[in-house]
This record gives sequence, structure tokens and C-alpha cells, in this order.
Amino acid sequence: MNSIINEVDYGPLAQLLGKWVGNKGLDNAPDSSASPDLSPFSDELTFTLSGPSENAEDQQLVSIRYHHVVRKLENGHIFHDQIGHWIYEEKTNQIMHSLTIPRAVCLLAGGEYQERDGVSLFEVEARAGSNTFGIIQSPFMLEKATTKAFKMNLSVKGNELKYREITSLHIYGKDFDHVDESTLSRVLYEQD
Ligand code: HEM
Repeated sequence: MNSIINEVDYGPLAQLLGKWVGNKGLDNAPDSSASPDLSPFSDELTFTLSGPSENAEDQQLVSIRYHHVVRKLENGHIFHDQIGHWIYEEKTNQIMHSLTIPRAVCLLAGGEYQERDGVSLFEVEARAGSNTFGIIQSPFMLEKATTKAFKMNLSVKGNELKYREITSLHIYGKDFDHVDESTLSRVLYEQD
């Protein structure tokens, strides 16, 4: 896949562009009862160009913007919505992933781009309390449903995308790993 679009080299991010859909998702969410709340889901991920950025006349970044919409398989209702960017710096091979969810939580996660056996790997992490790859949450969430850490492994091979994300929470008086995973197929390749 050509990574140069509109005279800008998007590097590994070019592989993500387009619209992806899946119906193989599984959400393991916290519940006040002893057993976790497991929900199969369908999801849609759309990635579009958001151009190059230069920081302090020194750092050269490229980025793409995404929108992730997740629906419960049992009724088709949206139960998770997420927006953000994937950002890449060629000089350092650094990947950054920003996300905002409408529970009043946002974060910036970081990692290094890698390739293994022809698979492109985007693996990023954030931790509450960090001034760089950290997590910001509303006063209510900080007190009652704290996000302590976030880790995401996203991989792409051709037109198949898989992800697994672990959101480490402290909720209902205990630690809980809120895990979401899915496999999607690209249904549309669009550069802009
Ligand atoms: C596919 C991705 C995701 C899905 C489908 C999903 C879904 C859910 C569901 C169903 C709940 C339980 C809500 C309830 O108790 O009524 C929940 C709780 C929560 N999620 Fe997610 N989530 C996803 C990703 C994330 C991410 C990326 C974050 C933050 C980085 C996050 C943060 C939280 C928090 C803080 C709660 C606790 C709120 C509560 O249960 O009262 N989630 N999520």
C-alpha cells in the first residue's frame, strides 16, 4: 500500500485508512455484582487523514483521525463511542494514540511501531499520574470509577484489523480489568 498521500508520507498509518466493520467483538465490563458483564458487539472504525504537524519547528508528525462506534449485538444499540487520533513520528518510530470517550475520560497513550511476520503492530500504553502518556478524567470518575491504566494492541494485515484493549479500572471498591477485543474487515479504502 502506498504510504505517500497528497505529497505526505503517512508511514505505517496509511495501512489503517478507510472503513472497517466487524461483528466478533466481546466486551468485559465492570458490574457491581461479583460476575463481570460480558457483551458480544459489532463495531465500525473509520480512519481519515488529518495531515502533517510540525511542533516547535523541530518535530515532524503525521496523523489520522478515527471514529469508533460500538453496538450491542443483542439489540443494535450504541453502547460505546470513541474518537481520537493515531500519530506517528518517523524519526523516532514513535506511535501515539489519543482517545476521548463520553464518560468524561480522555488519554494519550504511546509506544513504538513494529512489524512481525508481515503483521503491523501498533502497541501503546498510558498510565494515570504520568505527565506524558497519561489519563485525564472527571472528578466523579476519578472518585468512583478510576481509570488507572490503558493498554492497546492493534494489528493489521492487509484488510484484517484486530485489537485488544485493557482498561485497568478501580470501581465498586476493587480493581477490574475492563477488556475489549474485536476483529474487523476493511470494507472501504479511502484516502480523504
Ligand atoms: C470497545 C470498547 C468499549 C466498550 C464496548 C465499553 C463498554 C463499557 C460498558 C458496557 C461499561 C459498563 C457500563 C455500565 O455499568 O453501565 C463500561 C464501563 C466503563 N468503561 Fe468502557 N467500553 C469500552 C472501552 C473503554 C475505554 C477505551 C475506556 C477508557 C479508556 C473505558 C472506560 C470505562 C470506564 C471508566 C467504565 C466504568 C463506568 C461504569 O461502569 O460505571 N471503556 N464500558
